[in-house]
Amino acid sequence: MKKRILILGASGQIGTELASRLRKIYGKEKVVTSDIREQDKSLKKEGPFEVIDATDYKAIENVVINYEITDVYLLAAILSATAEKFPLRAWDLNMNSLFNVLNLAKEGKINKVFWPSSIAVFGKTTPSIDTPQKTIMEPSSAYGISKQAGERWCEYYHKRYGVDVRSIRYPGLISYKTQPGGGTTDYAVDIYHKALKHKKYICFLKEKTTLPMMYIDDAIEATLKLMKAPKDSIKIRNSYNLASISFNPKEIANSIIKHIPEFEISYKPDFRQAIAETWPQSIDDSEARKDWGWEHKYSLDDITMDMLKNLASMY
Ligand code: NAD
Ligand code: SER
Repeated sequence: MKKRILILGASGQIGTELASRLRKIYGKEKVVTSDIREQDKSLKKEGPFEVIDATDYKAIENVVINYEITDVYLLAAILSATAEKFPLRAWDLNMNSLFNVLNLAKEGKINKVFWPSSIAVFGKTTPSIDTPQKTIMEPSSAYGISKQAGERWCEYYHKRYGVDVRSIRYPGLISYKTQPGGGTTDYAVDIYHKALKHKKYICFLKEKTTLPMMYIDDAIEATLKLMKAPKDSIKIRNSYNLASISFNPKEIANSIIKHIPEFEISYKPDFRQAIAETWPQSIDDSEARKDWGWEHKYSLDDITMDMLKNLASMY
């Protein structure tokens, strides 16, 4: 059967970049993008787009049937910072959208599911350096609780119903094409915009708050690689640890100063500091490297160079 892909929540930070990569690989008509918000007019010519609320099973099912969809990438979610403001809304979206997609696969209407988890599944009691794949997981954020529950359900649907669901625990992602959507790691994108625009940045995390991070190109490569891997090489059906680099706000500022010597960072921690303090500083992703050949490319200085180059024309 020919591959036809549906992306739910495609207008966000990951979806915009994933959609264009998938369209380059499979052809633009083979990849249907969708989101709860109407698509930007300039993107309309890039391929089919449907307005879909990911909590609406019928709406997803209709599009799956109409376009003969085989694979669904579920990216609709409420991220960590916004989820602290609206915990029940986050639970509702993050869980019900996942059940909708898992149930479509269970009923044989689609073949394969990608659903991202996050470093937010870990908590204060987790070993924070080189956090192992299997370890103590006591997330305390509303977002982390929904991601951990989601992981358990992915494994359940795989074991009980044979659903081919694949997942990655993304670290904080850095990209320039779209603004991030309400996470704790968003500072690592905003800092580049402010460095170019104002030559200074007030960071909402403390200077020594180290978190696992990754450039979007690496994250997209990992996603494509995981989804292409033979079924029996996927040994973990809750979610794979994934890592590239770790840094803190002071270190990203120092990387920017190499290009913008007058850049200054100051610190005004807010409620997101408490979330960040429960997350690991670095991740052991050896299972992903072993099972499906994951390897990262971008260092912090590579990311800084690419971000500043691509954002320069905006300011
Ligand atoms: P984002 O906030 O940028 O995009 C999410 C998209 O979902 C938005 O376009 C939004 O309009 C859409 N959406 C919201 N409610 C919807 C609904 N009811 N129906 C359909 N669409 C809806 O998020 P992102 O950064 O692209 O993240 C995508 C996935 O990756 C999420 O599951 C997120 O938890 C996970 N993740 C992201 C990061 C990161 O750093 N970006 C890290 C770890 C995990
Ligand atoms: N980048 C995400 C967030 O901060 C992690 O899942 O919410």
